Order: sequence, then C-alpha cells, then structure tokens
Amino acid sequence: MVLESSNAKKLLSKLARGNGHGEDSPYFDGWKAYDSDPFHPTMNPRGVIQMGLAENQLSFEFVEKWIRNNPQASICTAEGVDEFKDIAIFQDYHGLSEFRNPVANFMAKVRGNRVKFDPERVVMSGGATGAHETVAFCLADPGEAFLVPTPYYPGFDRDLRWRTGVDIVPVVCESSNDFKLTREALETAYEEALKADIKVKGLLITNPSNPLGTVYDRQTLETAVAFINQKNIHLVCDEIYAATVFAEPGFISISEVIDDDPQCDRNLIHLVYSLSKDMGFPGFRVGIVYSYNDAVVSCARKMSSFGLVSSQTQHLIASMLSEDEFVESFIAGSAEKLAARHRSFTKGLGQVGIGYLKGSGGLFLWMDLRHLLKEKTLEAEMALWRVIINDVKLNVSPGSSFHCSEPGWFRVCFANMDDKTMEISMTRIRNFVLQNKEATKVKKQKFCWRQSSLELRLSSRRLEDIMSPHSPLPQSPLLRATT
Ligand SMILES: Cc1ncc(COP(=O)(O)O)c(C=O)c1O
Repeated sequence: MVLESSNAKKLLSKLARGNGHGEDSPYFDGWKAYDSDPFHPTMNPRGVIQMGLAENQLSFEFVEKWIRNNPQASICTAEGVDEFKDIAIFQDYHGLSEFRNPVANFMAKVRGNRVKFDPERVVMSGGATGAHETVAFCLADPGEAFLVPTPYYPGFDRDLRWRTGVDIVPVVCESSNDFKLTREALETAYEEALKADIKVKGLLITNPSNPLGTVYDRQTLETAVAFINQKNIHLVCDEIYAATVFAEPGFISISEVIDDDPQCDRNLIHLVYSLSKDMGFPGFRVGIVYSYNDAVVSCARKMSSFGLVSSQTQHLIASMLSEDEFVESFIAGSAEKLAARHRSFTKGLGQVGIGYLKGSGGLFLWMDLRHLLKEKTLEAEMALWRVIINDVKLNVSPGSSFHCSEPGWFRVCFANMDDKTMEISMTRIRNFVLQNKEATKVKKQKFCWRQSSLELRLSSRRLEDIMSPHSPLPQSPLLRATT
C-alpha cells in the first residue's frame, strides 16, 4: 500500500524529516539553476554558466599524460590486471600502506617540505566532507559547538552539524580588516556561546580560505593556536586548498606553526585534507584526517569504515603520488595555470570596475558588488543575485550563503571552465555592468534589468521556480540569533 506522503514522512526519523542537511540555501539553489539550464557552447549557448563550483579543472592535461604513460597503475587495464585480484579483495580500515606513505609525502611536498607527516596518522575518509564529520564525531557531543570564522564554506552546515548534532558558532569577521580573524572576534564569539550556555569544543579554520581565497599569516595562526590552548579546546584546520596557492603571500600550514611552538598541546591539533582541490579529483573521494592526537587517530580510523577510499583508487593514487618528478611538476604547473587564470579574470573585472578581495590561493574570488546593491540589506543582495542568475545567466554564490555579515559580496569560481567559457562569462559580466551604469545614468526609477539589451533571452525556468522555499539559508537557531 502506498502511504500518504505526509504519513510516509511521519514514519521517518527526525533526521530524515528535518532540513539539517543545509541544502535549502542559495548556494545549492544556484547549482539547481545551473542544472536546469546548463550552458553549452553549441547546444545551449544562452544557458547558465557554472561559476559556483570550486573545481580545479585547469591541470587535467598533466594527470591525463601521466595516466597514458602508466597504464599499469590502474588494475582495470591489460597492463595492470595482474594486480586486480589482490587489490579488489577485502581491505581493512587502515588502508593500503603503499597509499598512506605517498599521501603523507605529498602533504609534505605541498607544504614545501617544511614539515613532515607520519603515515601512521593518515586516516582515510570519503573526501574532506567525511573527514569533517569524523573529526566532529570524535571531538564533540550533540549540542556542543565549534567556532567557525565567517564567511565560511556552506557545506560545513551539513558536514559538521547534520548527523552529529554538533553546532556552529560563527566568529564574525569583517571587510574593514579584509575579513582577518582577530583575537577580539574569537573572544566575542566564545563569550556569546558561554552566555547561550553552549559548550565550545573547538575552532575550525580553513586555510587557504573558501570563499576568500586568502591565506592565514603566521601571526594569525599563532593567535589561533594561543587561543585554543588557553581555552583548552581543539583546533581543526581544513587545508584542502593548500596547493592552490599561486602567488605571494605563500601558504603556511598549521603544522609548521606548531612545530615552532613547544608550548602548544599537540593533542588539540587536527588537519582535514583531501585531493579534491589540490589535484582536482573531487570524484575520487580521497579525504584525510590527520590528527596529532593518538586517541583521535584510533577512533577516526575505526570510523573510516563508513567512508573508505576504494582500494582501486588508493592503488592508482599511490602509484601517481609516488613519482616525485610528476608530483613536483604537477604542483608547479597547476599553480602556474591558476595564476594565469586569476590574472586574466581579475584583469577583466578591473576593466569594468569590479573590485575583489586580494588573495593568493583558492579556485575563486571574493567579489565586491556592494556598489550594485540598491540598499545595504540581505534582501537587496538576494535581489541582485537573482538578476545575476536569471538574466546574466551566471551562477555565482551570494555572501549570505557563506554567512558573511555584510551584504554585497559574492564568490565567483574561475578554475572550473575552459578559456572560451571564461571569455563568455566575462562578456556577460561586462554587458551587465555597462547596462547597469546606463540605467543609473538616465536615473531610471526602476532598473529594467529584465528588459535589458543583454543579448540573453530569459530562461523558460527562472530561479524562483526551482529555489528552495527556505532560501536564504535557515541556519541553526544559534546562527540565526547571532548573525
Ligand atoms: C573548505 C572546504 N572543505 C571541504 C570541502 C569538501 O571537499 P571534498 O570534495 O573533499 O569532500 C570543500 C568543498 O568545496 C571545501 O571548500
């Protein structure tokens, strides 16, 4: 018998009935808008261009070349089939040792070999997504919280909170100091949590930052280390964009900072890493928890049974990362390509007077569109975002979906498309800005974006048709109360 849908829902768990997954957000709505009308150079040239996806697609040629030269590295080729049986059978949650060693070496290389990583502390997970949840499960109980500086990656609302029952307390960072994390902001957030009777178990930082594209300087990292030691809470560092740094200032890992700090309690320090961004392999789901705390390593390893990297992938990655020459040329080549793309994109933005936060890493820019807002409100930001998706046909992500405290900032990804698509997106941005300037000049009462002379026809499906009813993001009660 088919149950009434409301009854069917009632029979489910609270988790399945709720919306703690965090997907009712403009961040994910933008993806849906793209999915419903995806740009294609010949089949759908007026479709939405995806600039909301932090993917590194610029360096595939290096990897493809390596794969062609190393057919034996895959167990599903004639050259590699002899190893098929050994690799395909049962694996335990420690993972293949030939995988953990090169991963630890790769992590060191990405950090300029200024630090070493112990393969015995490398724990596998299903991407950084799984790594974050594992760490949250290991460090906090339901109702306890992590401090997270804003703006932050929207996926954290799902990864840290949804299944664990752990909460997030935002640490408000502002444009007045380029969104830098300060001791004052940390203390304020910590005090607010205490007042709300919430136990803070840790601080989570992302370095390089998504969405800012900036790296933490040594002093700020030292401030964070001093803060967590003083409060006796954990420090989780998401360093999944470590190798995307393409300019000065360079990347400094938390591991370097604690190596120079004999006072730091290393049991409080944990790294989240993955190959999704640095190598451009989000589909491989290679995530890593690297903890300096033995108990966390032991527990996370048991938990990794829920999100192991397939042994086939481990085998391939092990062969690839074991080749020092390849790894070194990949890291350098990828950074060069990111730098070139960043240069051309920022040049285009500069030509139409669009500012952005200066950064040296990541796969995106934190774009300043405050001057295009009708007023300094969240509503105005959402209105502008709708125009950008519906009419300009670019999926960029509004700052509010990253919990940014100031309206008018947007994250735009620049490494997930080819040069031609990038040019088309730049033309759309240019036309939009010129049209907007024109509208301001003739002092129209109402901007007529929809009837604009942009050569873009309206899509048959507009964002409103697919948007989740809850956007902008309904946050945890605490977030709502404090942002
Ligand atoms: C800061 C940050 N952490 C974690 C993730 C999730 O990465 P993965 O694909 O490895 O799960 C992302 C993905 O965009 C991210 O930006």
